Amino acid sequence: MKEYQKMFQYFLILLFSSVAFGQYVTEPPAVTDQQCQEEYDKIIGCVRAPIFSKVDDMPLPDQNKNQELVDEITHVLDCSGHLNCNSSKLLQSYLSNQRWISEHFHATLSDCLTVEADTELSNQCGVLHDDNCNRFNKSNLKCHTTELEKQPNCTERHVEPYVRLYWALRSRCVMAHQLKLEMDRYHIKEKRNF
Ligand SMILES: *[C@@H]1O[C@H](CO)[C@@H](O)[C@H](O)[C@H]1NC(C)=O
Ligand SMILES: *[C@@H]1O[C@H](CO)[C@@H](O)[C@H](O)[C@H]1NC(C)=O
Ligand SMILES: *[C@@H]1O[C@H](CO)[C@@H](O)[C@H](O)[C@H]1NC(C)=O
Repeated sequence: MKEYQKMFQYFLILLFSSVAFGQYVTEPPAVTDQQCQEEYDKIIGCVRAPIFSKVDDMPLPDQNKNQELVDEITHVLDCSGHLNCNSSKLLQSYLSNQRWISEHFHATLSDCLTVEADTELSNQCGVLHDDNCNRFNKSNLKCHTTELEKQPNCTERHVEPYVRLYWALRSRCVMAHQLKLEMDRYHIKEKRNF
């Protein structure tokens, strides 16, 4: 019994020291402006294809061009790898989200959500600009899904994929804003080689 209590105490000490140690190692590393600029340049330096300039416009209606861009994003994410600055992580998350949006759109919605259908949704429910992410909200989504079902070639089965697309577009909006703040904070200068 005594032996057991001793072991238990020892276990507790181990447990608490590992918790403390865990917190110590997961603390974000201090980063400098220069490091964050270098990480940003590294990501942009991984870009090979000029089509990358269309990354903010994804999903592209042209499926082949869209796929080319999806592949380029995959290359840029693999090539840039693990980085430390929040600005870098945000940019990578933004790219990864754009890739998801595009693949999801072409896999589930492109037959229904045509340019005409999308224009009609904007006319009825208001344009979703990235200047104000609060425009993406539940009541606005309700308007969108109601209108979506009225579009030619759209059916009830398109609603669920559309809802997922909608929240991914909201995430894009939020990430773009956070990215801008982080870029300002670390005084990162945008450079483009594409
Ligand atoms: C990076 O972002 C995380 C999560 O938002 C935050 O907890 C952390 O303080 C940020 N680090 C820096 C260096 O800004
Ligand atoms: C929801 O979005 C609509 C337009 O997209 C906007 O007019 C409305 O003010 C938003 N509601 C809230 C609570 O932000
Ligand atoms: C709707 O579907 C039909 C049959 O699949 C197709 O011929 C037509 O081009 C589609 N219309 C639109 C606007 O996508």
